[in-house]
Amino acid sequence: MDMTTSATIWFAIALASVITVITKVAIGRRTTTVASDSHLPHPPVVNGVSTIVVLYAFLTKGLRSTLRGLHAKLGSVFTVSFFGFKLTFLVGPEVSAHFYQGSDLEISHGNILEFTVPIIGKEVGYGTDAATRNDQHRFFHDVLKPSKVASRIGPMTEEVQDYFAKWGEEGVVDLKQEFEQLLILISGRCLIGKEVRQKMYSEFFTLFGELIGNGMCLINVFLPYAPTLACRRRDMARANLSELFSKIVRSRKSTSVVEKDVLQSLIDSKYRDGKSMTEAQVIGMMISLLFAGKHTSSITSTWTGAHLLTDARSLKAVVDEQSEIMSKYGDLIDYNVLQQMNILHFCIKEALRMHPPSPVLVRKAHKNFSVRTKEGSEYEIPRGHTIASPTLYNSNIPDIYRDPKMYDPDRFGPARAEDTVGGKFSYTAFSGGRHACPGEALAYVQIKVIWSHLLRNFELKLLSPFPESDWWKIIVEPKGKVVVSYKRQQLCSS
Ligand code: HEM
Repeated sequence: MDMTTSATIWFAIALASVITVITKVAIGRRTTTVASDSHLPHPPVVNGVSTIVVLYAFLTKGLRSTLRGLHAKLGSVFTVSFFGFKLTFLVGPEVSAHFYQGSDLEISHGNILEFTVPIIGKEVGYGTDAATRNDQHRFFHDVLKPSKVASRIGPMTEEVQDYFAKWGEEGVVDLKQEFEQLLILISGRCLIGKEVRQKMYSEFFTLFGELIGNGMCLINVFLPYAPTLACRRRDMARANLSELFSKIVRSRKSTSVVEKDVLQSLIDSKYRDGKSMTEAQVIGMMISLLFAGKHTSSITSTWTGAHLLTDARSLKAVVDEQSEIMSKYGDLIDYNVLQQMNILHFCIKEALRMHPPSPVLVRKAHKNFSVRTKEGSEYEIPRGHTIASPTLYNSNIPDIYRDPKMYDPDRFGPARAEDTVGGKFSYTAFSGGRHACPGEALAYVQIKVIWSHLLRNFELKLLSPFPESDWWKIIVEPKGKVVVSYKRQQLCSS
């Protein structure tokens, strides 16, 4: 991160967070009073001047390094306190079970995800009550389960082939931008269905870009209902996108032809009381899927590429794997073939370990809970605390991951299996437990379809320096362009 220019912006963010948090704490003060009969101590606290020192370290050295320092000094559970706001970090799998597995009555996203409501709509997710949300969570898992994902691989492969057919014999591209565009095409085709892809693609592309671009800008995240231009643009794009989707949903309902896609599965989903989702809910669910899945997958495709193109050993291993698979299956790409791309799978997983798009997952504790560290210390964490699980740091703990700074996909192979040896919550790029990402299977499938095609058809070289992370983005992405040269080159089967 460019520390000098970024410090001012981070300071502004910190200030905005403090103001927002103070406002929310003030509003919710009655519910955050701690009452406990436990005799366990609370976690060590960083407060007063030390908080300013921590904030300074965060601004100048970054999140990972700051957490390393706090972890070394205070152990795996500690609270950073400022202006009455208490942020408790849980470092490592030993203390993370409640964070991921606790019920929503005990620990939940609270109002942390409020900024998503104007984007995805008040009819879904955090705009609704817990029972409706639980049912909708079940719908996500159902429509994204591997058997349904498998049926989308044909259209997805077609999109990928068509996209790269437009590249010339050789050239130079910004891989990040290419993947952004490709993933929106894949999402349009595989999530929403053929109507968008065939008739309304450019309208959809523009509106979705407007919705996310304005909805995810930092000021809107902290003050989602402020009277800003960005909020107005976000709301206008949301309304127009809704109208577009609503035409599709209505035309689906009025014909007897049943499509086999995610949209159709959502239309057919039933709540526990047997009722179907309303049109607005179906639309909200579609936008949620696009919102949660498109950008994360394109970023991860880019990081995977940046690592493969700077690590000759891993690149050779994935190319050899493709060649071997081609000798068995020719050009066929289906779920079974993709499942056999283990080396490519580990390369993507390793890119995600080093660059999780959500570097810190956050919850609100509604009831006190206790944790026991690896060293045997026990703490009680009071309700009202905001709880952070720092995925970025947890996936870099040297006791779990050997040489964590090294890109080493072999660490996930059967001989080492570092993520499982370390315990259940050692690898949380896709979260875990109750809120585990339902799109994990789809994410791997789409990234593998893209990268297997590139490895089989092109020779690629990274021309720009290895990208830094852009910490200014809510979903952290590679900073700037990722410039790559390509030359068509058909891979032979081994
Ligand atoms: C590399 C790609 C991806 C990564 C790293 C990723 C990561 C995550 C994480 C960390 C969460 C949970 C956040 C939390 O616990 O607070 C999440 C939730 C979610 N993801 Fe993904 N995701 C990816 C791709 C996808 C895809 C492709 C889809 C679907 C199209 C998807 C749909 C969702 C949904 C719907 C949720 C919310 C689930 C709920 O709480 O009801 N994700 N994702």
